[in-house]
Amino acid sequence: MKALVLDDSMNLQIKECEKPIVKPNEVLIKVKASAINHRELWIQQGLYPGLTLPCILGADGSGIVAKVGEDVDTDWLNEDIIIYPGYDWGENEEYPSRAFRVLGMPDPGTMAEYITVPVKNIVKKPKYLSWAEASAIPVASLTAWRALTRHGKIKPGDNILITGIGGGVAQAGLALALAFKANVYVTSSSKKKIAFAKTLGAIDGVNYKDEDWNVQLKEMSKGIDIVLDSSPSSILDDYFKFMNYGGRIVTYGSTGSRKTTINISKFFLRHIQFIGTAMGSPNEFKALIAFLEDHKIKPLIHEQFYFESGLEAFDALRKGTQIGKIVLVH
Ligand SMILES: NC(=O)c1ccc[n+]([C@@H]2O[C@H](COP(=O)([O-])OP(=O)(O)OC[C@H]3O[C@@H](n4cnc5c(N)ncnc54)[C@H](OP(=O)(O)O)[C@@H]3O)[C@@H](O)[C@H]2O)c1
Repeated sequence: MKALVLDDSMNLQIKECEKPIVKPNEVLIKVKASAINHRELWIQQGLYPGLTLPCILGADGSGIVAKVGEDVDTDWLNEDIIIYPGYDWGENEEYPSRAFRVLGMPDPGTMAEYITVPVKNIVKKPKYLSWAEASAIPVASLTAWRALTRHGKIKPGDNILITGIGGGVAQAGLALALAFKANVYVTSSSKKKIAFAKTLGAIDGVNYKDEDWNVQLKEMSKGIDIVLDSSPSSILDDYFKFMNYGGRIVTYGSTGSRKTTINISKFFLRHIQFIGTAMGSPNEFKALIAFLEDHKIKPLIHEQFYFESGLEAFDALRKGTQIGKIVLVH
């Protein structure tokens, strides 16, 4: 079968690989679409922990169950599914086990004609979603879901700031927060992206490159309860200008800067929480898909490429001009 492989010299290429053999409790999926995440760029830059090459990339995918292994209910055969993109979350809903890992390095990923996963890793694809839409959900929407529900404790009327609104998680967070009837503000380096977010339902936004971005945000929002943050400011004190007492900064990425400084006294006197999160549990994934189906929420797709043009799709992500997900149609 053909697969998008990062080889041990860090070259990304489409090459012929062995079709995986389905084991007991597993299903063989014929992949119909896969989506790109920033993670695959970190891996290609050697910046992802536990680099093990060569590897088929891709955490996000949707497809059809082509074969079921021993001990798997044959009702799954020919079912349209979405793949839960992690292994070994463990029993604790609060945080994953040390063995938790995301598909697509070191385990083979979704950017291939076929993938095998344990049957517990699949969820039926809601019919209102296309293959491409379904593949664009797992990593981004699950990360946003856990950040907003478990950590952010989102409720109607909350004021929410979503940073870097061009990103896949940020876009998923916008759709979810609006469904929860929250008031959403955004940051972006692009006026066009802020204007687009407003057409989707955001109230307003500021350019995070403006020196007084936090003052502007305080003026327009009168105070923020939850920050869904892909890129904490290098000076976390920037946030204290607009955070409400008891506010939660939930961070899932470090796109802009890997380090931040903080004025501790402002932090504790305002009862602010700074919370880290990554992806979500299998139970949260099921809850997310049910919520999306109830609200008929579709992920925003920026651009679709045929699988054969996978390398161009990665170039598109590198440019950073996207609003939403970049998808490979297999
Ligand atoms: N923890 C997890 O489970 C998890 C899951 C998914 C992603 N992530 C991480 O989250 C980050 C975003 O990933 P993604 O796939 O959603 O996004 P993405 O599609 O790669 O988009 C990146 C976005 O980041 C924004 N950005 C760039 N520099 C920024 C800065 N200095 N401050 C604020 N925003 C900035 C840009 O927004 P504008 O164009 O609007 O300026 C850009 O659209 C990455 O660091 C990724 O590794 C973590």
